[in-house]
Amino acid sequence: MKIAMVGSGYVGLVSGACLADFGHDVVCIDKDPAKIASLLDGVMPIYEPGLAELVGANVRAGRLAFTTDLAAGIEGASAIFIAVGTPSRRGDGHADLTFVYEVAREVGANLKTPATIVTKSTVPVGTGDEVERIIGEAKPGVEFAVVSNPEFLREGAAISDFKRPDRIVIGAESEFGRQVMSEVYRPLFLNKAPILFTARRSAELIKYAANAFLATKITFINEMADLCEKVGADVQDVSRGIGLDGRIGPKFLHAGPGYGGSCFPKDTLALLKTAEDYDSPTRIVEAVVKVNDSRKRAMGRKVVEALGGDARGKKVAMLGLTFKPNTDDMRDSPSIAIAQALDDAGAKVVAYDPEGMELAKPLMPEVAMAANPYEAIEGADAIVIVTEWDAFRALDLKRVKDIAKAPVLVDLRNVYDPAELRAEGFTYVSVGRV
Ligand code: UGA
Repeated sequence: MKIAMVGSGYVGLVSGACLADFGHDVVCIDKDPAKIASLLDGVMPIYEPGLAELVGANVRAGRLAFTTDLAAGIEGASAIFIAVGTPSRRGDGHADLTFVYEVAREVGANLKTPATIVTKSTVPVGTGDEVERIIGEAKPGVEFAVVSNPEFLREGAAISDFKRPDRIVIGAESEFGRQVMSEVYRPLFLNKAPILFTARRSAELIKYAANAFLATKITFINEMADLCEKVGADVQDVSRGIGLDGRIGPKFLHAGPGYGGSCFPKDTLALLKTAEDYDSPTRIVEAVVKVNDSRKRAMGRKVVEALGGDARGKKVAMLGLTFKPNTDDMRDSPSIAIAQALDDAGAKVVAYDPEGMELAKPLMPEVAMAANPYEAIEGADAIVIVTEWDAFRALDLKRVKDIAKAPVLVDLRNVYDPAELRAEGFTYVSVGRV
């Protein structure tokens, strides 16, 4: 089957490479010539484990190609995926659909053979209706369907998430669309991945509801962590204790500095806007957004407290900048607000991150970047672990103690065992554990 993937960003590139790996003939299209040129050279625009190898292998096998020419790229494609960005619109937080509708117009103008147009971008309820209207307006003269197929990939684990999904959601209004999508995902049916066919609007909402629910779960355990600190309980035991209840489940109950990234902050906001537009408020999600926003800066205050309440002139070593490990993504990372809060309190922050420093620099000009964790720790009055990269899970604690000015460790990801660290002579502060 020939598949066109419009938009070669994170979702488009991973989905395109995986679909090619299933044996489909995939063309990834992007209007950014620099991105396509670098992909043709085998250079990935993002850091994602295993992606360069997967792309390389499928390009060599002749199943994966790249182009800036949409009209040529979609020629003869049975499925045309729209995987362009839907950033938060400046000013009001609505999802910005400019790129999605632009692609719909171009597809409409160039469609010559029957095709199913698939929105993979995260789009508000009703966007599929509008995409269908736009394409229909161009009078392509061939049969077409518009379906919603939200993606549930996690950065850092995107390839295995695509190839071994918990579920595939297809929102389709016609048998034609359902059939094409069954063909696209046939290799996964053989692995018994559950596929859920729904109405298009339901599929669009499933994506937002899933992310809002996960954001709620994280925020819930974060507030429980605060309570644990006050009452002298251990949040990890609480997580385990509630997570073993099959109705709750153990995942996404790790307390930390608040969620970040390109999805949860943007999608929760967009859901609030949709709810507002339909006069059906989602107050729980409203609270989640507020609580998470204030948490990030509160983590900066936690470090100041560990410094004895006064950060002026003190050096803080910040380990980890990206919103989570195994990505270089800095979007809405808690590290940004924490660094800002520390800077406001008069501290000098020196940071190290295995992949995120390039993208972090313009976002936190007040922060100096170190070449490795130990360079950051040298002479520090406090060390704060913001992102749980593997490289920070087994620091040489003796060396850390030797080179730091004071052995104060604020572990915002609960990577270390409090008793062990205290036995090593550290002043150790973590999240939801005393
Ligand atoms: C998230 C969802 O997990 C994916 O299913 C979804 O497809 C994706 O958004 C999207 O909409 O595109 P992602 O943003 O890559 O994926 O990252 P997550 O692994 O979900 O982590 C998000 C944030 O929550 C991170 O800042 C992470 O540190 C934080 N988190 C996660 C916690 O603080 N505690 C947890 O228990 C889990």
